[in-house]
Amino acid sequence: MGKLDGRVVIVTGAARGQGEQEARLFVAEGARVLLGDVLDEQGEALAKELGDAARYVHLDVGREEDWAAAVPAAKDAFGKVDGLVNNAGILRFNELAGTPLEEYLAVVRVNQVGAFLGMRAVVPELEAAGGGTIVNTASYVALSGMTFLTSYAATKAAVLGMTRVAAMELAPKGIRVNAMCPGAIDTPMTNPAQLDPGADLAEASEAVDELYKKLVPLGRIGRPEEVARLALFLSSDDSSYVTGQPFVVDGGWLAGVSVF
Ligand SMILES: NC(=O)c1ccc[n+]([C@@H]2O[C@H](COP(=O)([O-])OP(=O)(O)OC[C@H]3O[C@@H](n4cnc5c(N)ncnc54)[C@H](O)[C@@H]3O)[C@@H](O)[C@H]2O)c1
Repeated sequence: MGKLDGRVVIVTGAARGQGEQEARLFVAEGARVLLGDVLDEQGEALAKELGDAARYVHLDVGREEDWAAAVPAAKDAFGKVDGLVNNAGILRFNELAGTPLEEYLAVVRVNQVGAFLGMRAVVPELEAAGGGTIVNTASYVALSGMTFLTSYAATKAAVLGMTRVAAMELAPKGIRVNAMCPGAIDTPMTNPAQLDPGADLAEASEAVDELYKKLVPLGRIGRPEEVARLALFLSSDDSSYVTGQPFVVDGGWLAGVSVF
């Protein structure tokens, strides 16, 4: 028996990285999953690989119209929606004083507005299904500062704020809302060499490993599968008494400052 048998979950940003691993694990645990992304070719291929329990739709999380089409698509395919993982996100590095407004707003549009629109779009369906779960993806930098990440940190703090409010408002409807705060996770976001066909991947991974060996108490970067397992916990009955909270998955990075 799977931990998500009978559930129907929308996962955004599901074409690669953490979203891909969430979609894979959720299907393996018995859920039917609507994968949304803007990377249509990759998303379609993944849904095809996952079989009848998966569908892909083009879903730009910052567009209301896309949500208005994606939720009915999930219902048409699988009969209901009772879960959402707001995973889609983008990162832009820039010093505060040099960040153009357009760049700041572009990050807000995906990370913050996208999470808001997603929650708003699914609530009536989750309520109609008799309850459900929402898992938002915040970040380590929602809880701690990091240089050159003004726009990103602002949006991830906003995600935590929305998570708390949504959890309180939706608890009477049987809907639990939690947030994940990953540290450094080995995906194209943190390790862009993964997207460069000419890159020496082994060398790039070694450089990343070396960096996080020093920074993170557990001595390595995290794997997207490790975040997916937290998303599974927060989407399943294993977390039945848990709502409104941020969950850090960072190998101990936030625990403190090492002097060695
Ligand atoms: N990788 C990390 O170290 C890390 C750490 C903390 C938090 N996060 C968060 O985890 C989530 C997943 O990131 P990842 O590491 O898998 O990165 P990633 O770049 O590999 O994946 C992000 C996915 O989101 C999709 N996406 C981007 N804009 C979109 C939009 N407008 N609509 C729909 N999909 C869109 C991308 O196409 C991609 O498939 C993000 O919210 C990110 O901010 C990542």
